[in-house]
Amino acid sequence: MSVRKQLSSLQRISPEHDFSLLSRTIHFLGDTLGKVITQLEGEKILSIEETIRKLAKESRKGKEEATRKLSDIVRGLDIDMAYRMAMAFTCYFELVNLAEENYRVRILMKRRINQLNHPQKAIPKESIESAISQLKKAKVKKEEIQEILEKMEIVLVFTAHPTEIKRQTILNKLCEISSYLKKESFNSKPSPAIHSTVERLIASLWLTERSRSKNPQVLDEVRTGLWYFEHTLWDVIPELHNELQRVLDIYYPGVTLKPKWISFGSWIGGDRDGNFQVTTKTTATTFILQRNLALRKVSQSLERLSEIFSISSQRIPPTKKVIRLLNEKLKSFPSLKEEYERYPNEPYRLVLLALKKEVENSINKISENDLLDFFHDCKPDTTLKAITEVLEALKENFDAPQTRIFLEGEFQKLAQCIEVFGIHIFSLDIRQHSAIHEEAIEEILRLNGHPEISYALLDEKEKVGLLNKLLEGPLPSLHSLYNRASDKLKEVLGPILVFSRSIAILGKEVCGCYLISMTSGLSDILEVLYLCKICRCSIDIAPLFETLSDLKSSPQTLQDLLSHPLYRKYLQERSDKQIVMLGYSDSNKDCGYMTSNWWLFQIQEKLHEVCRVHGVSLVLFHGRGGTIARGGGPAAKAILAQPKGLLEGKIRITEQGEVLSTRYHDFDIAFRILEQTTYGVLLAIHKSRKKTILPKSWEKTIECIAEESYRAYTHLLHQEPDFLRFWQEVTPINEIGSLKIASRPIFRFRLNNFEDLRAIPWVFSWMQTRFVIPGWYGIGSSLKKVIETSPKALSILQKMYEKWTFFQTVIDNAQLSLAKTDIDIARLYCDLASDKNLAQRIFSIIEAEYKKTVETILKITLQNNILDHEPILQRSIQLRNPYVDPLNYIQVEMIKRNRAGQPPTALEIDKIKSVIELTINGISAGLRNTG
Ligand code: PGA
Repeated sequence: MSVRKQLSSLQRISPEHDFSLLSRTIHFLGDTLGKVITQLEGEKILSIEETIRKLAKESRKGKEEATRKLSDIVRGLDIDMAYRMAMAFTCYFELVNLAEENYRVRILMKRRINQLNHPQKAIPKESIESAISQLKKAKVKKEEIQEILEKMEIVLVFTAHPTEIKRQTILNKLCEISSYLKKESFNSKPSPAIHSTVERLIASLWLTERSRSKNPQVLDEVRTGLWYFEHTLWDVIPELHNELQRVLDIYYPGVTLKPKWISFGSWIGGDRDGNFQVTTKTTATTFILQRNLALRKVSQSLERLSEIFSISSQRIPPTKKVIRLLNEKLKSFPSLKEEYERYPNEPYRLVLLALKKEVENSINKISENDLLDFFHDCKPDTTLKAITEVLEALKENFDAPQTRIFLEGEFQKLAQCIEVFGIHIFSLDIRQHSAIHEEAIEEILRLNGHPEISYALLDEKEKVGLLNKLLEGPLPSLHSLYNRASDKLKEVLGPILVFSRSIAILGKEVCGCYLISMTSGLSDILEVLYLCKICRCSIDIAPLFETLSDLKSSPQTLQDLLSHPLYRKYLQERSDKQIVMLGYSDSNKDCGYMTSNWWLFQIQEKLHEVCRVHGVSLVLFHGRGGTIARGGGPAAKAILAQPKGLLEGKIRITEQGEVLSTRYHDFDIAFRILEQTTYGVLLAIHKSRKKTILPKSWEKTIECIAEESYRAYTHLLHQEPDFLRFWQEVTPINEIGSLKIASRPIFRFRLNNFEDLRAIPWVFSWMQTRFVIPGWYGIGSSLKKVIETSPKALSILQKMYEKWTFFQTVIDNAQLSLAKTDIDIARLYCDLASDKNLAQRIFSIIEAEYKKTVETILKITLQNNILDHEPILQRSIQLRNPYVDPLNYIQVEMIKRNRAGQPPTALEIDKIKSVIELTINGISAGLRNTG
């Protein structure tokens, strides 16, 4: 399909859309908010807010007078008034986001009903059915589908740095409003009851602080992560499985689906890289919290099942196995005597009730202390075995055609959840920075009689040589080492020991892998191997490559690793599976958007090749998501753009903390998100098997783009005098640093050191100011340079965009960032710089690059405006803009006052800070992006 045809088809918005419903919902919420403001604050406040809104709209149309008036009004706001104005726009966005979400859910439901009524006709885009039907159309044989399904393994890993800006209290209120929206059709006026309930909720929203008074603790974050399992994912997963099975039965009857092809991992409570609050004890408690939630869910399900299985033994006789289980449980739970007497002929119900009791007794039976008691014997927990035994026995008992119906519904759901979530929900990963391991090795050497060795100062070859000797020699006694270790070393050995105990007590499924941040060479991995050996713990060790130079050398590092005899032996014992993680955001921060994307793309094939030669299966773990600069963007497209990564059918992807609430809090949306991921993975596995050769001209072009982009980006960052000072002054980075949104600090080790600044706040600060540099900077210069090199270059670029999913995705994602960029608003922030000449100089450089980027992208994509291909998104961003602008104006004004040290009282300074925090909240809600 040519770009032009593709364009026109994209521009047709699918007929199921009824934007009038969306706008009715927004009006209802907006009007109610207006009413609440008038009632609680008086008409004057509403009228100032309305004036600001109108001026922002006019200003967007280019009316200078309106822009001037808007600045004057904002400058004249006293702190209380500024707070109210910021609250009005923030609340508005929170409600608009709800309306959009509610609308999306309705479209999804409509589609699902349509699909069920007209199978094979109304196939939704990016659905499981769409993937399987495309494979069928491409004449993929049944055997290949079977093989793809056997290999497919999707692990979604919830990350530990939730920059979720909304407080749980706010999320709960929004959820409640949303539940009322779901009940309304908005065809006529909502009922008075709904009206007054929503009004009350909005009033409460209006009066509730947005900023937290304390940083959330790690365990609060763990509980937040688990919320999605308790409320949606536990129900979504069986549905997703059924959907894939349903579709297979239509297109490929006879193909079987393994029970576990998708599962979840987590970093929350396990990721200690730069977060000293994640301690050994926190990790142990996390395991327990996860387990207890799973047990509660299982117990609820057993309760329902015991009612369904009130089947008489006179009608369906129990098998020997069921009778044996029943007798065993009778002995273990004499307290169930009453139930036994009440249901003498209902063995299935009794067995399920006994199991429920066993599961309930198991809650809190294992505590964090059991996982922390490193030097005592332990017994494996048998609860999971007991559950599967009963489910298996019932399955056999009811396996006849006339009774199989009982194995569907609730029974199948529980069996499916047990397969996917076990009784641990997530497999927990540990992550630690390589520099911390170096310090640990140095201390171990010191404690073992080598105080003369400064391990960290050795070069790579010397480190590897020394580690080889350590690995080949006798291991130190763990007990004695641990007792003499400093607290710091204990915090390195501790999590590995907790893993070891958890594997022994709870089973190996509960542990994910050990990730090494900032891996740059073989020694980084051998250090962890040695630490694991000392702890007598066998776990998957995964390097995380995240700077440009580490990405470039990653195939060599992997080659060195797999050629290392001791590591290879270790891997053999772990089924020859190697996980390698790729960091999208740190690489972006290091070398810019385009360059990092290109390197992340090309090394995947090289890493696979290294593993293939060594007979090792590779699992790529993509550390991506959230904003575009951190590898976010539409998931299915992203997966399809890099099919080579799925050569083995396995993929791990992070799900970033701040997107969990928009992706997983609603059943239908969660289903859709997972369906899109499955769609991408199914097609990408198939695509990865086809040989594709990139035309030489494309390869040359993309290399040139990556190189030029790198030059432009790093020039701005490192060679433009005082650029970092400019960034610190014109963005709210300091204010973001003091926001209480996560347990983790914004710097890794050293404060105010750019290298140690986490990628998330870096992106966050640019997003707030509407510069959005990390999402596009460098593209304009590089594309311009390429276009100027030859007369044919533009048409090559257009072809690349049309035919190459990777290139198209990178350009389209950059468009998303560009659409959120607003150079006129960004200009306002330059006023915050202490050196106006410096600010003007750097601003002009950024502005010129922005113009070049828009211009060249429009040429390549044959559009008139950014995002013409995505009209729904384009419309949403345009509609939101005039409401975001006032928040930016207020933010700039408040930062100015805060930095000027006026007003004098501490109370007023606090008030100013809370207005700034509110604007940060509001802009994030308006742009639907944080860091
Ligand atoms: P990190 O994450 O700083 O924890 O590596 C970066 C990201 O998620 O974007």
